[in-house]
Parts: sequence; structure tokens; C-alpha cells
Amino acid sequence: MKHSTPNSLQAKDVRSHLHPFTNLAQLEETGPLVFNRGEGIYVYDDDGKRYIEGLSGLWCASLGFGEKRLVAAATRQLEALPFYHNFAGKAVEPSIELADYLIEHAPVPMSKVFFTNSGSEANDTQVKLVWYYNNILGRPQKKKIIARRGGYHGITVASGSLTGLQHAHNGFDLPIAGILHTDCPHHYHHARDGESEREFSARLAANLERLIEQEGPDTIGGFIAEPFLGAGGVIEPPEGYFEAIMPILERHDILFIVDEVISGFFRTGDRFGTQTYGLKPDMISVAKALSAAYQPIGGVMVSEKVYQVLLEGSRRYGTFGTGFTYSGHPVPAAVALETQRIYDDLKIGDHVKAVTPRFQSRLHAFADHPLIGETRGLGLIGAVELVEDKAARRNFDPARKVAPRLMALAADHGLIVRALPNDAVAFCPPLIIETAQIDDMFDRFGRALDDLTQEMARA
Ligand SMILES: Cc1ncc(COP(=O)(O)O)c(C=O)c1O
Repeated sequence: MKHSTPNSLQAKDVRSHLHPFTNLAQLEETGPLVFNRGEGIYVYDDDGKRYIEGLSGLWCASLGFGEKRLVAAATRQLEALPFYHNFAGKAVEPSIELADYLIEHAPVPMSKVFFTNSGSEANDTQVKLVWYYNNILGRPQKKKIIARRGGYHGITVASGSLTGLQHAHNGFDLPIAGILHTDCPHHYHHARDGESEREFSARLAANLERLIEQEGPDTIGGFIAEPFLGAGGVIEPPEGYFEAIMPILERHDILFIVDEVISGFFRTGDRFGTQTYGLKPDMISVAKALSAAYQPIGGVMVSEKVYQVLLEGSRRYGTFGTGFTYSGHPVPAAVALETQRIYDDLKIGDHVKAVTPRFQSRLHAFADHPLIGETRGLGLIGAVELVEDKAARRNFDPARKVAPRLMALAADHGLIVRALPNDAVAFCPPLIIETAQIDDMFDRFGRALDDLTQEMARA
């Protein structure tokens, strides 16, 4: 174990670094896996071992790990103006240009962009905007926000409350009051016997409306959803789901917030998941592939309907009193703008659509494997779910940590994938991946699955 060598990076890490989303006790035993170089779809650890980054880091490094144009864009901006802010009527060119680009390319008409440093901050801001909007409209009761079980929206106090995953709540006293969760839209696990996707969608929509009526429609301000669930398991909405949900939101004058933090910027082949599923959001959150993850930046887009109320707020309160020191920081904004230009130059949406059939057919080929209960995905994202009993769709006891074990075996084969709840294992490679690399990725995964199968047969 490297971390038992004093002054190794691993030893220093265990000594000094409190890691995000990590089992701290386990880390003390194993030490970290340290990465120090990247190129294309590959990253290298400090032993020089090469891995295919099958999850684009955290669903974000859409252009891989060696895009020189982004390095140049950051360098140019650092040399010209390394920092200036956007408070109190000041502005910097990259944030102006980026906002303009995003509004021009928004999936439905949008009016303004507010910049944050992350997806969590974007969704945190969405919560504040729902509250503010309804205060200005004289509806101080209309503040609750409905999210979904299985949804992931970040980890701040508000966005962590929107997240519908137990591991983001345990021990943190989340969710806070005023955040409600409705059904997880996963047909495979939650449909009744013989229930079609459309029937399942109709039942979930009826449950949502019942929840709204029980709470009182005049108390519900917003509904937030990812176009497909990401960290909750890569779960597409069942057929007819959003068509059934959206009229309910409209009927009760509830703002629809679409969290595009994973789905945004061509993951599905379309620029936004909003387009893929024909959504009609009032507000949209973006982050991650906005800047290909080369710099931290996120944002909130608001429609004209919402903006007009915010404007009214300034007539009442003066200052629109929210913003981060680094909202629209010029360096991440310049990198995000260059990222968008690269997507356009590469026609990245066309590329994603061209390689998607190969990605999806290789993914779905695992459906026949005795350990795999469901394969699912769209565009360049997907997951396989491991089950103990295929007929009963029953997962393994979580204590057996089957998916984390598969993730470790994949790493042995030079592939990084991600274990998710319910023993799902996710794939979300950089959008620049080529067909031969897709084959290589799934070949490596197949070898890891063979290893797991043998291990389990021996156990
Ligand atoms: C859909 C979604 N929303 C929000 C977030 C939070 O973003 P961040 O980690 O940048 O705060 C994530 C992160 O994975 C996400 O997947």
C-alpha cells in the first residue's frame, strides 16, 4: 500500500484531505488512486497506467482530457483579465458573450442566464428564485418544491434536499422542510405487474397531482426534474411521462425547473435533453459539459415570464440580492464559450448521433448476461443493472457491494465506470469517443464482468 510510505502523495492525502463522496473509513485502509495526466478519452494514474474514462470523470469531461483550445482560451483570458466580477452593473466580456450564446441556443425561449460555479449552486439558486418569484407575486405560501426520489440535484442544503437519494441525506438532516419527493419514474422496478409504460406514467402523474392537492396547490411553487435520472441510475422517463406531468404543473401554476446538468450539451445527441423529450421548462440548470469541466462553472436560465417578476422585485427591493463572487468569472466563462465553439466546429451532436447506435448496441448486448437485469440508456449514456434474481428483478443485498466490486475489476482492466444505487454501473464517456474506442470500452467491461461472474461462482 503506497499510503504506508511516509510522504508519499497517498500518505499525505490520507493525512490531510477530506474527500467528497468517499467512504472515509475505507480510504484510510486503501489510500487514494492518484491521477496525474490525461489525453483524449484516457487518464493515467501515477504508476503510468492508462484508463478509458468511461464516465467522463463525473459525467462532465465531454471533450476528454487533452483539448488544447481550452488551455489556450484559459491562458488568453488569464493574461488579459484574470478576474473581474459582475456585481452592481459591472461585467466582463466572456460572461456577456457566453450568456448571449446560451440564450441564442436555448432549447426553448429563455430570457437571461445567471452564472454559478457548479450544478449544486445552480439548483440552490433555482430554489431561491422560486421563493423570490412567489413573494414578488404576493403568494408567500407558494414555496414548496417537488423533486423525485432517485433524482440527483447536488449537495448544498437546498440542492441536497432536492436530491432524492438516501446517501446524500444520511446524517445531514436533509431534506429541509418545504422540499417534497414524488415517485421515482423507474418502470423496471416500480411498475405493477403487466403495467405498460404509459399506464405507469399516468399513475405517477395522478400521484403527483394527488400530492399537490393534499398539500394545497397554493403551497407548491416548483417541480424539478432531470430529463433522465443521472446519478440515480441513468433512467429514462417512461413513455408519456412528461406529457402527463407538464399539464398538471401548468394547471396549478407550478414553475417547471429542468436540471440539464448531465443531459445538457449533446449527451443525448441533442444540445439539451429538453429537446430530446419535448419539455417546456420555465427555468433550466446547466453545468458540467458547459465548460467540458475544464473550469468550474454552472448557470441558471430563466424564461421571460420569470425574468419579468425578478425585474419587478428590483423595483420593490432595489438590489437583486443574490450572486457569487465568481458568478460569471471571466476564466471559466471564456473556457465555456470556447467549449461551445468546439462543439459547433466538431458538429459534436452529429458525431454523438453517429456513434450512438454502436454504443447502445454494445451496451444492450449485456442484457443476456445472467447477472444483468436491465440495460438502459440513450445517446452516449447508459447503465447496466446487476441483479441476484432476473425474473423477480431483485437486486443483491447492498452489503455485498457487487457493483462497487465490478467497478474495481473494470479498473483492473483499465476502465473507469461508476457504481450507482441498486447496483447499476454507468457509462458516460467523453463525447469525442470513436467507434473503435466504444468497442474497446465494452470489451474491457465484458472482461471485468467475466471476472465477477467467476468470483461469484467460487464464493
Ligand atoms: C443532474 C445534476 N444536477 C446537479 C448536480 C450537481 O452538480 P455539482 O456537482 O457541479 O454541484 C449534478 C452532479 O452530478 C447532477 O448530475
